[in-house]
Amino acid sequence: MRKKIVAGNWKMNKTLEEANILATEVKGMVADEVKGNVEVILCVPFPYLAQLTKLIGTGTRISVAAQNCSQHESGAYTGEVSASMLTSVGVKSVILGHSERRQYFGEDGQLLAKKIDIAQKHGLTPIFCCGEPLEVRESNGHEDLVKRQVEEALFHLSAAQLQKLVIAYEPVWAIGTGKTASAQQAQDMHAVIRKHLASKYSQAVADEITILYGGSVTAANAKELFACPDVDGGLVGGASLKSRDFTEIVKSI
Ligand code: PGA
Repeated sequence: MRKKIVAGNWKMNKTLEEANILATEVKGMVADEVKGNVEVILCVPFPYLAQLTKLIGTGTRISVAAQNCSQHESGAYTGEVSASMLTSVGVKSVILGHSERRQYFGEDGQLLAKKIDIAQKHGLTPIFCCGEPLEVRESNGHEDLVKRQVEEALFHLSAAQLQKLVIAYEPVWAIGTGKTASAQQAQDMHAVIRKHLASKYSQAVADEITILYGGSVTAANAKELFACPDVDGGLVGGASLKSRDFTEIVKSI
């Protein structure tokens, strides 16, 4: 049975003190909710990774992740953070290819393929994001674009490598806009992604991949989204910044 995940993407929010409070609250509130094949991941800013990894501790189904990493091993790349730095502070997973990275930092499929490789080389689980902007959805190009994003970044992987990552479908028009994809729209796209993976690998491999939905997930809409057969959880931005809202979303899985 594939894993179900609720991941909170804090983006560039919170001071260290606020981050400690939020992580402590989340840990206390969701600890009893994460059972069976459910995992909770907090994707926090780089400066807080070491401290929050310790705060969350081991022996729980809650973990701490980064929001990006460099495609390079090490060296003269001022301001960058490498995959081995992340593992050295106890981080287990990393968001790669978030639409904000694609849009504001020019990350494309070729670069993301390299980032996926280096993350996996160091034992990190990539949470690979894909999703279409509004104009592409409006011109009905969303299926083709998302399939291409998946191909460019992932199709060079072996089946064994593919099974060691998580995909997040995040329509750009739904991110931070309060405009969620309907459960039907989410299910349709998740099924398209899974079918595309099955066409390259096999149905059995595709059936093992956790595919999260992201884009204005709230306590009010999470249950309906998570009830879709191909939606295996969520990548939650705004609503992950409040422990109560995030806990309600975790309870919906
Ligand atoms: P949102 O962000 O929940 O605030 O829409 C989701 C994301 O960007 O991961």
